[in-house]
Amino acid sequence: MAVDLLLGLQWGDEGKGKIVDVLTSNYNIIARFQGGPNAGHTLVFNGKKHVLHTIPSGIFHDDATNLVGNGVVIDPVIFKKELDKLEEQGVDYRKSLLISRKAHIILPTHRLLDAASEAAKGKAKIGSTLKGIGPTYMDKTGRNGIRVGDLELSDWKTRYRNLADKHESMISYYNVDIEYDLADLETEFFEAIKVLKSLKFIDSEEYIYQAQKSGQTILAEGAQGSLLDIDFGTYPFVTSSNTTAAGACTGLGVSPNKIGEVFGIFKAYTTRVGSGPFPTELFDKDGETMGRVGNEFGATTGRSRRCGWLDLVALKYACQVNGVTQLMMMKGDVLSGFKTLKVCTAYKYKGEEIYHLPYNIEPENVEPIYTEFNGWAEDLTAMSDAAQLPKALNEYIDFLEKELEIPITIVSVGPDRKQTIFRGELVS
Ligand code: GDP
Ligand code: IMO
Ligand code: MG
Repeated sequence: MAVDLLLGLQWGDEGKGKIVDVLTSNYNIIARFQGGPNAGHTLVFNGKKHVLHTIPSGIFHDDATNLVGNGVVIDPVIFKKELDKLEEQGVDYRKSLLISRKAHIILPTHRLLDAASEAAKGKAKIGSTLKGIGPTYMDKTGRNGIRVGDLELSDWKTRYRNLADKHESMISYYNVDIEYDLADLETEFFEAIKVLKSLKFIDSEEYIYQAQKSGQTILAEGAQGSLLDIDFGTYPFVTSSNTTAAGACTGLGVSPNKIGEVFGIFKAYTTRVGSGPFPTELFDKDGETMGRVGNEFGATTGRSRRCGWLDLVALKYACQVNGVTQLMMMKGDVLSGFKTLKVCTAYKYKGEEIYHLPYNIEPENVEPIYTEFNGWAEDLTAMSDAAQLPKALNEYIDFLEKELEIPITIVSVGPDRKQTIFRGELVS
């Protein structure tokens, strides 16, 4: 069987966790392939909210296997906290949660290095979640990292010490004021490592291969979004992994010709948390309304998210880079009550009108050109059928489908699992 992908098409927080949870009943295996605890994926069902960071969003379904793939970076301390929360909810994760031996481990000093690097950048800071993501991927590509499989080797603590010592000298190189007590951090870290070691480590590429061969269905759950991709995002204001479709191949060991459907997920407007350019960002009452009604606060850091109109130029680019086959539009309910809606359909770039994402989208280079739409007043949150959707919303959807040449198969009208409207049969 082919592996289907679910990817965020904007700057993250599109609602991936919710949709993976909704789709899990169609799949045997849910697999994360990149990122780490910088992600915050929110699921709401039975009146309860759950936030996952590293653990795949299929974990609440008894029948699904959840795999943390080789492309993911794991912070054992955060991972343990996630497990504790699952235990409180009575989730029996022991039989359903698998971890790739090739996934890299975030050390306490990786987190400190992240903080030191950001502090040293001053105003140019990336706005990292400070979870140690950048430094851990740097050690991975620099061939210095410690992997989950290393925990099974007798000398791993020596390797840990050497790397942590090196990190400490790098921290002092930054010459910034960072207070920490490494001994304390290490006590917590080694306790968490014990818990991690009690889970099932596997050679995940072999597992995925055999699962595909035996006809099991697999959904790969992206983290972050295409505009945060290390290659295709708004560099340097990006994360340190490939968040786009190709990342699923390297992050799981799946060959490109075994990728099936590519579900692309986007908000009916745009948000961004952290620094970096955002052409359609709003600094007025409309932006404030989106943030308030959409409850736009980061699920990992609690920071307020910047809000703006939908950017179709950027969305088209993300669809191209990922080969999206079906779209899912989230948070349509948040736009109820706006008299007029705007969609950015082109950029003014160096005096010219352009329709693609150029190298530099800083405000001094790019000005959005908008197409306006009538809004709708109806509250969507209690709707459950596509036939109930207001005419103006259908016009908005029709326009996007026509421009993007991809069907929108799900419209989400609230955070709950049940607030999900299917527009026809979902192909998977
Ligand atoms: P993820 O990182 O892509 O999984 O998304 P987050 O969980 O970080 O952010 C999405 C936020 O929007 C969460 O608070 C969700 O509960 C919420 N959400 C998801 N879909 C909808 C929707 O259709 N309407 C509204 N109002 N909220 C939604
Ligand atoms: P999910 O999976 C939104 C952003 C940070 C920062 C930049 C780099 O929940 O959609 P990093 O910690 O990776 O070094 O931060 O990327 N960022 C996210 N923004 N959603 C996320 O994940 C994010 N993960 C990282 O805010 O701008
Ligand atoms: Mg999130």
